Amino acid sequence: MLDRLDPQHADALLALIKMYADDPRPAKIDLGVGVYRTDDGSTPVFSAIKSAEGQLLTEQKSKAYLGPEGDMGFVHALMPYIFGENATMHGRIQGMQTPGGTGAVRLALALAKQAGVKRVLMGVPSWPNHAQILADVGLEVATFQHASADGSADLDALRSALDGAGAGDAVLLHGCCHNPTGIDYTHDQWDEIASMLVSTGVLPLIDVAYQGLGQGMEEDVYGLRAVLKAVPEALIAYSCDKNFGLYRDRVGAFYVMAQKGDQLDTIMSNANALARANWSMPPDHGGAAVRTVLRDAGMTDEWRAELASMRDRMRDVRAKLAGAGNAGSLDLTSLGKGNGLFAVLPLDKQQIAALRRDHGVYMAGSGRINVAGLHSGNIDTFIAALSEVAN
Ligand code: LMR
Repeated sequence: MLDRLDPQHADALLALIKMYADDPRPAKIDLGVGVYRTDDGSTPVFSAIKSAEGQLLTEQKSKAYLGPEGDMGFVHALMPYIFGENATMHGRIQGMQTPGGTGAVRLALALAKQAGVKRVLMGVPSWPNHAQILADVGLEVATFQHASADGSADLDALRSALDGAGAGDAVLLHGCCHNPTGIDYTHDQWDEIASMLVSTGVLPLIDVAYQGLGQGMEEDVYGLRAVLKAVPEALIAYSCDKNFGLYRDRVGAFYVMAQKGDQLDTIMSNANALARANWSMPPDHGGAAVRTVLRDAGMTDEWRAELASMRDRMRDVRAKLAGAGNAGSLDLTSLGKGNGLFAVLPLDKQQIAALRRDHGVYMAGSGRINVAGLHSGNIDTFIAALSEVAN
């Protein structure tokens, strides 16, 4: 039977990790997968997480199973940060832990399908795994342009997509730090999106994978909260992989806002059943570490300060790129406006291949760069390499 399988391409983004590792050139530059790096190019464990892990090591009494919902202390500790003061929206929000943000997106889409959603509207470009998960779950996709040529988010494109949509459709939106463009909807645009969702009845699925890496913890969920205030129901996928630096520990959460609190038990029983059939239970360690941080005021302050320094450094890198003005024919000035780890450079396949081959610069095939891969030791080399290939 297994002879019948066709070979599949390795995931293009994850394949870059290995290609970069195999490149022997010491001056190579990794702008591929979305991992934060400090100005010395490293990705250290947050010190708040180290403290929490130390505490867990001495205090954790058991590693017995918790159940498909994972660590509910973790799930609930995050809620005030995501949803604000009225963190349960008067008892209308409930959640569960998932293996990373990917697990949360998958669970949200599988649940949407189970509830009768047939089609998902999705801005493009998007994180490539969104399309892969949608295909795997078996949902129809309708795309619209995420960004306009002037480097702002294209609300008209979303409006037209929503105009032709209604009940039975869902829309997948990036809460902040859009991946791959770094271009987010403005607050005014989010307010309009919230009303458009109310009038069309389209179910929002908001993917929040980078809270705190854009403008700030509160600012980055402005859109999410504006939508939740307006619509009757919504699905939320959340990742702690970036904002707690827990990448390989796979720490995420899925939340649902129901029209009425008494619907939550039934909705979550469906989510639990889907989780059980997919991964049974999420890995515990990272969620337990986040819970430990968030229950301790000192560790929480330390975590927030570390997150703020990441945000500031990415702003500095963006300002430096924008300040360079041009690199060959490329105008870098718009990079100063983006949020989070990513930006897309309008390079063609040959130019991206030449950057890799001739300069050891690794970026996604879409021209997406991880701005956190740039630092004081390599940014000038990168701009010079860009000028050479894009002249
Ligand atoms: C990325 O887009 O680089 C990250 O979200 C990592 C991933 O899983 O693709």
